[in-house]
Amino acid sequence: MNINDTAIQSRFANASKIIRRAGELASVYFSQLSTIVVETKANGQDVVSLADREVEKLIRNLISDAYPEDGFLGEEFGLDDGSSGFTWVVDPIDGTSCFVHGQRNWCVAMALVFEGQTAAGLVFDPNADELFSAIAGKGAHLNGEALSVDLSTDLQHGLTSVGANGRVPPKVISSFIHELLEAGGMFVRSGSGALSLAHVACGRLAAYYEPHMNAWDCIAAQCIIREAGGWVNDFLSEGSLSAGGPVIGCAPQLRAPILSLIDKARDTT
Ligand code: IPD
Ligand code: CA
Ligand code: CA
Ligand code: CA
Repeated sequence: MNINDTAIQSRFANASKIIRRAGELASVYFSQLSTIVVETKANGQDVVSLADREVEKLIRNLISDAYPEDGFLGEEFGLDDGSSGFTWVVDPIDGTSCFVHGQRNWCVAMALVFEGQTAAGLVFDPNADELFSAIAGKGAHLNGEALSVDLSTDLQHGLTSVGANGRVPPKVISSFIHELLEAGGMFVRSGSGALSLAHVACGRLAAYYEPHMNAWDCIAAQCIIREAGGWVNDFLSEGSLSAGGPVIGCAPQLRAPILSLIDKARDTT
C-alpha cells in the first residue's frame, strides 16, 4: 500500500463518521422545519436554509481540524485552497427544496478529490439510515455491504431519473423526457440528484441524467456508481470543479441507449 492509499483510507474512515454527524445535525433542523430560516437564492427550486449553512460549517470545521492542509469546496461557502493535493467537495444538503417542504428526499454528499480524480465518494441518507460509499478501485458499499448496479435491466423496464433545474432551458429537459417516453421508458424525479445517483449505484434506478449539475451535486455518487460496476460520464474532465456540466450515471448496458436519447433530444432542441 502506498502513501496515498493510506492517506485516502484514513480520510475515508474519518469522512464516514463526519457524514453521519452532518446527517444528524441536518435531521435536527428537519424535525424543526417551522423554525428554520429559508432564504430564496434564485427561485423557488433554488433555495438555501440555515440548515444548509450550519451543516456545511460543521463538515468544514471537522475536516480542517483533521486535515488542515486539505482544500475544501462546499456549495454554500465556496473554495478554500489547500496544499496537500487533496480537496473535499461537499454538498451539505442535496435536495434542499424537498428538505424545506418536509419531503424526505435529501442527503449529505462528500467527495475526496486527489490530483483531479475522485478518490472516494460518500452519500448519506439520514431518513433511511443508508450510507453509500466507495473508494476508487475498491468497490462500492451500502452500510458496509457490497453493492452493484442492475445489470439485467433495460430502458423499457428500469426507471430513469431525470434532474431538472433552472440553470438550463426547460426545452432541454422536456425534449429528453419526450425521447425517453417515445422509446418506451419511464422517468422519475426525486429532487435530490445525489441520492438518485446513489440509487443507480444500488440498482433501484436504471439511470440518471441531468443536463447541468455542479461538482458538489454529483462527483461523490458518480464515484460510487463507477465502483458498483456502472458507467458515468467523466464529469471532472468534461466540466470543472467550478463550472459544472452534464451528468449521466447508469448501468453499463444503458450507456448507448441513454446517449442516443440525449443526441435525439439535442436534435429537437
Ligand atoms: C439540487 C438537487 C436537484 C438537482 C439540482 C441540484 P441542491 O441540489 O440535486 O435534484 O436537480 O441540479 O442543484 O440545491 O438541492 O443542493
Ligand atoms: Ca442549492
Ligand atoms: Ca446539490
Ligand atoms: Ca445543496
